[in-house]
Amino acid sequence: MTNLSVQVDVVLARADASVEALVSDLSDDERRRADGYRVSEARETFVLSRVLLRRELATRLGCLPREIAFDVRPSGKPDVRRANGARPDWRFSLSHTGPHIALAFALGADLGIDIERRDRAIDPLQIARRYFTPQEAATLEAAPDAERLRWFYAAWTRKEAIVKARGLTMAESLTTLSVELDPDHSEPAYQDAASVGVRAACRVVSLEPAGTDLILALAAIGNRALLPLLNIRSGTGIV
Ligand SMILES: CC(C)(COP(=O)(O)OP(=O)(O)OC[C@H]1O[C@@H](n2cnc3c(N)ncnc32)[C@H](O)[C@@H]1OP(=O)(O)O)[C@@H](O)C(=O)NCCC(=O)NCCS
Repeated sequence: MTNLSVQVDVVLARADASVEALVSDLSDDERRRADGYRVSEARETFVLSRVLLRRELATRLGCLPREIAFDVRPSGKPDVRRANGARPDWRFSLSHTGPHIALAFALGADLGIDIERRDRAIDPLQIARRYFTPQEAATLEAAPDAERLRWFYAAWTRKEAIVKARGLTMAESLTTLSVELDPDHSEPAYQDAASVGVRAACRVVSLEPAGTDLILALAAIGNRALLPLLNIRSGTGIV
């Protein structure tokens, strides 16, 4: 890694019922939140995402998982609380879709990650006409038929990743942020509407892990190129 790049550790995992054994690793607040889920898959995903998050951060910070505390920005973006300023400045982002979880970790750079399944039966054009910028919707319409769904998810995940790195909300960015759709562009461009003034610059990459129907986007604030290091867990595989 050079000063011109930022290494981002990306952890992928899949939750199942075995995560119930890990609930004791959670904070009281997290346990209460887990208990609020009525759908077992959503509960399992939440539990594993928080347990993994705590364990991965604990390894990097040299503390116990239960010792980590989070501050939550008004937009909902959580940050590691740095009571001890001497600790390394690890930042993170997390995302889930169904049982799939993606976590990203980097030193000193705000991150955003988004994960989606590409195999869902949706009408991408209908969604794009409603939620994308006119420029994005037109690009999607012109995309090759067989590739349209992939282009849709590349755009959606890139947008969410940028929004999450900036700690904004999708609602305020849907029509004011345009991203490049072509999933094969390794350095996708994006553009903010002039009406929103200057927003934090970031770099974005898309990842499509081989042998899966998953698509991810990763964004980091700043101008350094991203070096994602992918670590796929088999099952929960963390005990
Ligand atoms: C966060 C958001 C960008 C994407 O969420 P999503 O696709 O539904 O969910 P994902 O699984 O990708 O990400 C959820 C995780 O992102 C994090 N997160 C939540 N809000 C975030 C934000 N604004 N920025 C960055 N990260 C955020 C949390 O860790 C959350 O996990 P948790 O619910 O288990 O705590 C979207 O939900 C959003 O815009 N949220 C803001 C909500 C809002 O409008 N709040 C009102 C205050 S202005």
